[in-house]
Amino acid sequence: MKQIIAPVLAAASLLAIGATARAQEVVKVGLIAPMTGPQAAAGRQMVAGAKLYMALNGNTVAGKKIELLVRDDTGVADVTRRLAQELIVNDKAAVISGFGLTPLAIAVGPLITQAKVPAVIMVAGTASIVASSPYFVRVSFTLPQQTAPGAEWAAANGIKTVVSMVSDYGPGLDAQNAFKAKFEEKGGKVLEQLRAPLVNPDFAPFLQRAKDLKPDALMVFVPAPVAGSVMRQVLDRGFPEAKIKVVGPGDAFDDEQLNAMGDGVLGSVTSYNYSAAHDSAENKKFVAEYRKANNETRPNVIAVGGYDGMHAIYAALAKTNGDSTGPKLIEAFKGLSWESPRGPLTIDAQTREPVQNIYIRRVERKDGELYHIEFATYPNQKP
Ligand code: PHB
Repeated sequence: MKQIIAPVLAAASLLAIGATARAQEVVKVGLIAPMTGPQAAAGRQMVAGAKLYMALNGNTVAGKKIELLVRDDTGVADVTRRLAQELIVNDKAAVISGFGLTPLAIAVGPLITQAKVPAVIMVAGTASIVASSPYFVRVSFTLPQQTAPGAEWAAANGIKTVVSMVSDYGPGLDAQNAFKAKFEEKGGKVLEQLRAPLVNPDFAPFLQRAKDLKPDALMVFVPAPVAGSVMRQVLDRGFPEAKIKVVGPGDAFDDEQLNAMGDGVLGSVTSYNYSAAHDSAENKKFVAEYRKANNETRPNVIAVGGYDGMHAIYAALAKTNGDSTGPKLIEAFKGLSWESPRGPLTIDAQTREPVQNIYIRRVERKDGELYHIEFATYPNQKP
């Protein structure tokens, strides 16, 4: 009996191995992003960045075909969690990515820890997220990283008093705290810290309060997709006429919306990891290809997050020689280093966080358009 069964079993297991090998020819990458709702611009830009990377670099890595599965979480954390679960359990995604807002990233932490599936954060910027799961890796930024250099620059360049106004959630609080700590360390004074609701905010009372306090500058943080609407209100309330500058990280001066903000933003100085005007060969190519593929719109920090997120996934898979099992793959992200359109980018091997240059930029008119022109660099900033 044994002698008869053994070859049958051997053949069966060979068949099984064959099937597994065939199944492994495809590596599925989930991309969960808000494609509808108030943050829909983030989804569009992230997906455009990721797809552009694939279009320019092909869809095979180490002999495996990369399949991108895009899912719309509408910007609601419960939906993000359900979609992540479906991608991991039903679709057998080897890695998930995206996360256009902090709460959407936080929602998947316990799940990816349990499933041992890496999650690549392309946008969400609250400092604490990545440490909440050993399977998070971030290619975007943190708000303290983006904000502190600008606070230092402001203090060294004639700004003595600031009122800050931020969206009242993780990245806003991180930006507000980082700005105050650095600005006051360098001799400035934050007069008041204002927080507006993230959802359906009416900025009017906050802006009036800020103006009444007569600071040298207003520091603003809102998530990039809503930059245009808050800046319109800032300009309409006469901050430029009152000689109150607007400073902070670049989110409120989103590159895609900058032209529409008009000349009221000329001369504004902010600190950020990415400008569409960044002067490098990688960026020139990125901007030109992105414009061509996306109705001539300008790439922003979110688009570059999608692009670099895909690069990190490709590079990690190349490093494992196509092995997409979670524990191997997460190890492979650690220490990756490459030239991004934003400048040099490294994933810190200990923290799984991006280490990158933060640039000080001024809004100038160039070739008939408004751009953030970088003029100083804080190199290799840790989160
Ligand atoms: C976030 O929710 O963490 C976030 C979103 C958009 C930004 C920055 C941070 O521009």
